[in-house]
Amino acid sequence: MNLQHLKPSQEHDAPIYLQLYRRYREAIAAGKLLPGDRVPSVRSLASELSLARGTVEMAYQMLANEGYFVARGAAGTVVSPKLGNLAGPGHAKAPASTVHASPHSQTADSEVLPFRLGLPALDAFPRKAWARLAGRNLRTLETIAMTYPDPAGFAPLRRAIATYLGLSRGIVCSHEQVFVTAGYRGALELVRHALLQAGDLGWYEDPGYIFARQFLQRAGMRLEPVPVDEEGLNVGIGQQRAAHARFAVVTPTHQSPMGVALSLPRRLELLDWANRRRAWIIEDDYDSEFRYHGRPLPALKSLDRDGRVLYTGTFSKVLFPGLRLAYLVVPASQIGTFRDAVDHLPGPGSILTQSMVADFMEQGHFGRHLRRMRTLYAARRGYLVDALGQAMGERLHVQPQAGGIHVLAHLDTAQNDKTLAATAEAKGLAIQALGNWRMRKSSQGGLLMGFANFATADQAMASVRRLKTVLARC
Ligand SMILES: Cc1ncc(COP(=O)(O)O)c(C=O)c1O
Repeated sequence: MNLQHLKPSQEHDAPIYLQLYRRYREAIAAGKLLPGDRVPSVRSLASELSLARGTVEMAYQMLANEGYFVARGAAGTVVSPKLGNLAGPGHAKAPASTVHASPHSQTADSEVLPFRLGLPALDAFPRKAWARLAGRNLRTLETIAMTYPDPAGFAPLRRAIATYLGLSRGIVCSHEQVFVTAGYRGALELVRHALLQAGDLGWYEDPGYIFARQFLQRAGMRLEPVPVDEEGLNVGIGQQRAAHARFAVVTPTHQSPMGVALSLPRRLELLDWANRRRAWIIEDDYDSEFRYHGRPLPALKSLDRDGRVLYTGTFSKVLFPGLRLAYLVVPASQIGTFRDAVDHLPGPGSILTQSMVADFMEQGHFGRHLRRMRTLYAARRGYLVDALGQAMGERLHVQPQAGGIHVLAHLDTAQNDKTLAATAEAKGLAIQALGNWRMRKSSQGGLLMGFANFATADQAMASVRRLKTVLARC
């Protein structure tokens, strides 16, 4: 680790020893320092960073008192070997073939790496409008925003979401059916508490969204991989393999990561299965707003006559993921069950941000932002697709997708996509391997790449050239 990254700033309000202490904690949490790693001696760090020895000593003492550091006498000071799982799986220095480019992982000095998946265009977010809303909400800070939040979500936001879904996604629901959650995983957590039990079996798209899969598996769910073809989830195979499953998780509008839409016959077949078997369908409608050919498809939920679909949407793509806000729409018959479950969960957090999002939606900023983003993403997608075609057309075949904010490029030859992606990632390119998103082995490799943050064609081309150089060495 570069010691200069630990250097405290003179302008910072916090005392120098405290800044140093925090930098060390961040480095450990981000996996930059691992359990057992030796840290520099007080004397050498003080001299390297031009700090007083007493200042460094104070920081080291705090870190030792809290169990981060262990003094080993003549062998020096090390990061405590007992901190084995402090850095999450997304942070540990993992072997090359594991997935560690989590769209959710943050490092202390995080920047947007080229191709980073799942991020919207952060440079295009309407910060001025957002800052105005923030200012207004803070100035007027209503009493309601200072009390304990309703874990089901702030009522005006629940209403705004219900209205938006009616207009935009063909979903007719009341605001009582809408539960605001801490991201998509918050929605899954709520479904698990309300309707599922550890050991329950569910269908999972193969390939499918890796982070929700890992989340469900860790929550004790058993997942049956169900293949995805050009019509989306193969419901027939699901029924052959596990007709008795309790639930199915699907991305019908824009399958993650293949990009296909679930065809109408498959939608009806899926709903019919769920109705006959009293199974639940979890519809993940994560990026339906971004479609570049034809009209956005209505949600599967809009066809749900029997109340079997639990619909989830997120603000991570349409606003930004740092908000940690998503939502779940439950069938009217299940409001009581979910109300009961949510009262024992932490809920989505601060009322202030929820109130800002509600205002953003109600005052028309949301609709305007979405319209702008559709045009912008169509252009940015073009930058990446063109650059890939020009620079790497012989090695990668971009699969045409009607929407979304990532592209999937198939490999021309039977190369190991996991090795390619891990090599690219080690060089600062946040590519993901399709193979890691699969549950069953397949010979068809591919690379997943986000394009939303390529602001110009030149930027996209520069990153693609870097990728080409990296892959040429594999
Ligand atoms: C398939 C899929 N579903 C859901 C989400 C949203 O997750 P969250 O709300 O936790 O940001 C994402 C984000 O990348 C996604 O790719």
